[in-house]
Amino acid sequence: MKIEDKRVLVTGVAGFIGSNLTDKLLNLGATVIGIDNLFNGRLENLAEALNNKNFQFHKGDIRDFNFLLDIFKDIDIIFHEAAFTSVPQSVKMPESCNDVNINGTLNLLNAARKRDVEKIIFASSSAVYGDTPTLPKHENMPRIPISPYAVTKLTCESYMEVFHQVYGLNTTSLRYFNVFGPRQQDSPYSGVIAIWLGRIIKNKSLIIFGDGNNSRDFTYIKDVIQVNILAAENKSSGAILNIGAGSPITLLDLAKLMLKLTNKEELGIIFDPPRPGDIIHSYADISKVKEILKFQPKYTQEQGLRDYLEWYCKKYEVNLKIK
Ligand code: UD1
Repeated sequence: MKIEDKRVLVTGVAGFIGSNLTDKLLNLGATVIGIDNLFNGRLENLAEALNNKNFQFHKGDIRDFNFLLDIFKDIDIIFHEAAFTSVPQSVKMPESCNDVNINGTLNLLNAARKRDVEKIIFASSSAVYGDTPTLPKHENMPRIPISPYAVTKLTCESYMEVFHQVYGLNTTSLRYFNVFGPRQQDSPYSGVIAIWLGRIIKNKSLIIFGDGNNSRDFTYIKDVIQVNILAAENKSSGAILNIGAGSPITLLDLAKLMLKLTNKEELGIIFDPPRPGDIIHSYADISKVKEILKFQPKYTQEQGLRDYLEWYCKKYEVNLKIK
């Protein structure tokens, strides 16, 4: 199945991942219907898409079932990126996280079932593994969530599987491992790389929660987009797949690398207490997605960071001397 002939719907279309995915889908010739409640998403991210005749934007919330039923007409594929995304914020507001992620996703699945949507590709998270000691994380190992956020993503994966088994919907859950890149916001509840870049621009020290030995398998947005297209065009029904670069880096090494690449080593690092709900190590075994979808990440963390920094400097006319 080729994406160019399809009518696709992207939830969270004005967000970091949704908007990057939309630009790629439109470039490939798909018709894209985008929805977003603009709580975190920004219309600025859709500047290019809004000028494309194959794009429609609808402001609305995935928790509003009638809104979804109205929009879901002749949709072939849904990319479900809308979410309450922050682990620490979910610790502060578990009900809101539950409402957006679980109730919103169940609404979406029900609307998709009623409107005969062919396929749903769901943005899940490596957070579902929790802190089990086995590394790298592979799909069949126990999942022991340690934050409300992780509980919601795990529950949504189960709903995806059940809607596949019971109603025959083609569902695929992609367990993203720390995605970063253009359009990720610098806000207190955003991903660490966007926050640190914001601090570098303001000439502030980087803050590490904990001793810096936490590790993450940071994955560049362009690889995440690549794998979403592969999942749309190929068969992966009912599957749950890890999506990572397959190479972890400690927070301390990441901080040093970002300071080195931006030539700002003098800013230094501050160590603050660890964040509740944080897992310690996260590292993806990506053999399953390589086999099923023939996915091969194209960006190492350093290559992704360089690409992101170049984009940032151009977009915001910032003069960083990238090493
Ligand atoms: C991130 C995503 C989450 C996704 C998960 C797996 C965000 C906000 N969260 O969660 O949606 O499901 O990856 O793909 O995008 N840290 C610091 N200093 C800071 C900020 C963070 O040391 O200023 C540390 C944290 O304590 C943590 C690590 O960096 O150890 C990563 O944190 P963060 O970027 O918030 O991502 P996750 O919580 O892993």
